[in-house]
Amino acid sequence: MSESTLAEPAAPTTLLETGGLSVRYGGVSANSDIDISVAAGEIVGLIGPNGAGKTTFVDAVTGFTKSTGTVSLRGERLDKASPHRRRRAGMARTWQAGELFTDLTVAQNLAVAVQSVGLRAMLADVVNGSRPPADVISAALELVGLDDAADQLPGELTLGHQKLVGVARALVGGTQLVLLDEPAAGLDTHESRDFGIELRRIAATGIGILLIDHDMSLVLDVCDRLYVLDFGRVIASGPPAAIQDDPAVISAYLGSPEVDPDTERPTADGPTGHAPKETP
Ligand SMILES: Nc1ncnc2c1ncn2[C@@H]1O[C@H](COP(=O)(O)OP(=O)(O)OP(=O)(O)O)[C@@H](O)[C@H]1O
Ligand SMILES: [Mg+2]
Repeated sequence: MSESTLAEPAAPTTLLETGGLSVRYGGVSANSDIDISVAAGEIVGLIGPNGAGKTTFVDAVTGFTKSTGTVSLRGERLDKASPHRRRRAGMARTWQAGELFTDLTVAQNLAVAVQSVGLRAMLADVVNGSRPPADVISAALELVGLDDAADQLPGELTLGHQKLVGVARALVGGTQLVLLDEPAAGLDTHESRDFGIELRRIAATGIGILLIDHDMSLVLDVCDRLYVLDFGRVIASGPPAAIQDDPAVISAYLGSPEVDPDTERPTADGPTGHAPKETP
């Protein structure tokens, strides 16, 4: 290593790193050779048309579908690990269209997630007296700014806050990297902006976020970097401003955007690429 390299400021800690990650479903290459990284404190966007392979990537990283290639968290190889072990190692996900349990309180919704982190680890914490479950739950709620909502039912919260409870559920138990699959779906422009502000606050604590969303305003506003997937491949990556002007991205995903006159950006339902967004 040269002296000049040593003199450079330390690079942010890489949390997630995938190498050549590939998933095949029968004849379909749902993910091909994907190299993506997410650093601590960074929000990285993953965008692309319907069917591009975004959810498949989250499934592969978190161990819910079979893949080839490598997945590392803080340098620890996890690609052979079970979803459960990856969760305990510090990576968590939300599910596309993941719903809250409407008859459980916010705290109870998070308690369900505590079990998935690992009962053994939790029991050890309780026995040590260091992290009783209530603390683990309130720490996660605090991260999304909803510590006051623990005893409320989801239906008593705004939709934006309900979405944040979904994120908090993934943050339970010392999550370092969270993969959010369309967490803001259904939010209006205003709610989506507030949601984005919370995501930035969460990232500022050092948590790495991979954000999948079709809401281009949200993605362009909050992400430090973006990757664009098309037919299972990364076709572009870089800062939002560069991605927005990339001809390959425009043709695959952004299409001839319907431009929001206020933001001069493509609207949430602007993508007119080969597979326009369908609202479920
Ligand atoms: N379990 C599965 N079995 C077979 N094929 C699948 C499976 N899951 C996804 N696919 C296929 O893999 C490809 C990628 O799908 P994926 O759900 O990852 O896309 P996506 O980018 O998340 O799309 P969307 O924006 O609609 O959520 C699609 O062709 C899809 O039909
Ligand atoms: Mg998806």
